[in-house]
Amino acid sequence: MTFSPEKNALPQPSAEALAVSQQLQTLINAEIGRHSGWISFARYMELALYAPGLGYYSAGSRKLGRAGDFVTAPELSPLFGRTLARQLAELLAQDIPDIIELGAGSGALAAVAIEELAALGQLPQRYRILEVSADLRERQQAHLQSRIPQHASRVEWLDHLPERINAVVIGNEVLDALPVHRVRAGHDGISEIGVITTNHGYAWAQRSAAGALAATAAQLQLPADYETEISLAAPALVADLAQRLEHGVLLFIDYGFPAREFFHPQRNRGTLMCHYRHHAHDDPFLWPGLQDITAHVDFSAVVKAGAGLDLLGYVNQAQFLINCGITGLLTEIPATDVARYAPLAAQAQQLLSPAEMGELFKVIALGRGIASPLSGFNRGDKSHTL
Ligand SMILES: C[S@@+](CC[C@H](N)C(=O)[O-])C[C@H]1O[C@@H](n2cnc3c(N)ncnc32)[C@H](O)[C@@H]1O
Repeated sequence: MTFSPEKNALPQPSAEALAVSQQLQTLINAEIGRHSGWISFARYMELALYAPGLGYYSAGSRKLGRAGDFVTAPELSPLFGRTLARQLAELLAQDIPDIIELGAGSGALAAVAIEELAALGQLPQRYRILEVSADLRERQQAHLQSRIPQHASRVEWLDHLPERINAVVIGNEVLDALPVHRVRAGHDGISEIGVITTNHGYAWAQRSAAGALAATAAQLQLPADYETEISLAAPALVADLAQRLEHGVLLFIDYGFPAREFFHPQRNRGTLMCHYRHHAHDDPFLWPGLQDITAHVDFSAVVKAGAGLDLLGYVNQAQFLINCGITGLLTEIPATDVARYAPLAAQAQQLLSPAEMGELFKVIALGRGIASPLSGFNRGDKSHTL
């Protein structure tokens, strides 16, 4: 399936935005030049998203929310953070002092979760945020200062992961934002599909896959004429967290599948997606730095990377939110109060519906020293599929 954008059918970027994209392209071109004319797609994606001051997440564009390029669950509704906070409260009650949020976006989830945890009488000692984008970090600071000034002293920003982690680590739509490699299985082995420059812009070019990528791809036993993405960065992050985790949980929410579904013979062109002002398409070379680039998450690889931790549960988002009591939160407002109830009900529908975020998004928890079962996973657990 391809849905390459008709450039003219998309909203056009401003001259200022195009100039930033041009600067980023100069940087990417130099990188390609330094590497004999070819870089991996993972390196291209890393620069397109995170090159300091120029990448999609590092530069000053709006990104998240209705005025940006895509909407995440915390941006969509406070119901998401309030419901998730119930699971966090249950975990913090197991003598876990802190929460660490990875990639906190606009700070929307942090603000709602902290407020809800305060209401539940289960505030963490510290709510720590690790954010790679300096621009988003500033936005998070401003948002939390204005939304929850009374709790601001509990929130701190980390420059890197702590050596030892005693915390609930959460990441909503973070793993899907990490760079992925593209590979192609042919009749004569695995190639890596990288990026070159041409007179018409960037183009794909294959090389024989090598090293960790070739080893990972070989294990997948992909059929011939099959293209897909392999993330080395997401498992590396999970393995790093797992190794540092003394007592606590890693809780990731993201779209994706177990390996068996991710690498299904019919999904033979991968899961790469780009988002520009709420238009989804599959051309990562369009306006580098101005659009989001993402791939689905292979949750089997996440579990494998967390070897040594207990798999505490794996459910779809709808099941998780229902298990944690989202419907109870909804009924706090009488349905007769249409002005308040109707928008919340519509948001719940988007979070829960299988046609929207309810089925594609999954929640996974890996932990050390945790008494289970956790209430978010007590019905509908699909850990056996991983
Ligand atoms: C798709 S956004 C999701 C933002 C937010 N969690 C939400 O749900 O609205 C991805 C976020 O992850 C951040 N990020 C990417 N790589 C990261 C890493 N290695 N560590 C921490 N944050 C990272 C990005 O800067 C961005 O804030």
